Amino acid sequence: MKLFDVYPLNDITITKGEGSFVWDDKGNKYLDCYGGHAVISIGHSHPHYVKAIETQLSQIGFYSNSIHIPIQKQLAEKLGSVSGKKDYQLFLCNSGAEANENAIKLASFYTGRNKVVAFSKSFHGRTSLAVAATDNKSIVAPVNETNNISFLPFNDVAALLEYFKQYGNETAAVIVEGIQGVGGINVASTDFLKAIRTLCDEYGAVYIADSVQCGYGRSGKFFSHDHAGVSADIYSMAKGMGNGFPIGGIAIAPHIQPKHGMLGTTFGGNHLACAAAMAVLDVIQNENLIDSVNETGEYLMNQLAQIPELKNIRGKGLMIGFDVDDEHKGLRKNLLHKHKIFTGEAKPNVIRLLPALNIRKEEINILINAIKDEIAYLNNLN
Ligand SMILES: Cc1ncc(COP(=O)(O)O)c(C=O)c1O
Repeated sequence: MKLFDVYPLNDITITKGEGSFVWDDKGNKYLDCYGGHAVISIGHSHPHYVKAIETQLSQIGFYSNSIHIPIQKQLAEKLGSVSGKKDYQLFLCNSGAEANENAIKLASFYTGRNKVVAFSKSFHGRTSLAVAATDNKSIVAPVNETNNISFLPFNDVAALLEYFKQYGNETAAVIVEGIQGVGGINVASTDFLKAIRTLCDEYGAVYIADSVQCGYGRSGKFFSHDHAGVSADIYSMAKGMGNGFPIGGIAIAPHIQPKHGMLGTTFGGNHLACAAAMAVLDVIQNENLIDSVNETGEYLMNQLAQIPELKNIRGKGLMIGFDVDDEHKGLRKNLLHKHKIFTGEAKPNVIRLLPALNIRKEEINILINAIKDEIAYLNNLN
């Protein structure tokens, strides 16, 4: 059997990681400013994380959700305390798409309605509801097409008001990323998130904060929506939650009450995934990673701002994007192949920086020097 070829690959085989560095099979060392697609929160192979998973595995790796799994409760409690959402309830699953799928489904159960608002340039995952709420027609299969989702312009309060005036009473949910990731690092404005909160309250709809990429401390607050001072009804999360171990979840406000059988999963919340997620929260807490994100994020932003060729630098914490013009569009590839630095991209010309939350200033300096070198090289070519 061969692999189903859906990923355009870089010709690189990573075999080892430590902190913000990874190594390939030829012994080359790379700086990881991409976090394996915003997944690596506490750094590669953090010793506390490795030990927690090993210890759990030597006891039990999996048993079904039909028995008590105390580590799920411990995780819920710890997540409540680290995120500040103490009275929320946690449902565990395995990925970001699943988290959003369950969030939208739950909103629909709760409200008895079927209309959902999503926004231009959104990305919510590839399962049926999540992909239907994703603003990219090329990944929506005919079977996923639905009239239940309406796309409104991102950060447009007037369009939102207009929509709610007409359809508010039929609307189950609004799903919004606090900072759009795949869409190119677009920060939701405070006014916009406040308007979503107000309108959801007024019309009885559910505010779903997709925090799969921008959550878990990456923005310098636990949830990026916290910057706007609003609370969502459901937060979806995944990526940074397990630092690479597959786990996702939704944090659900107390007014949304569960019923047996309403949601369910075989693997979600298994012992091993919970051990990984507990270890991540331990490290976020013990190493004050959210403070560290604010400090290093500001440093990174300031350093980038001194490079005039980088345009429209934006983001929060360690979720940063900037545009490059056509002259410098080789920058990302050259950073990878010449300087051995992974970064992310968004089409057509955005570079995304999504490093581990504990990246150090000296590691950021490696990135900045490489960008400066490469820009000078590209300037000379033109
Ligand atoms: C904001 C957001 N939501 C959902 C997802 C889907 O997550 P997953 O790939 O784990 O299904 C992603 C993935 O990039 C994402 O960035």
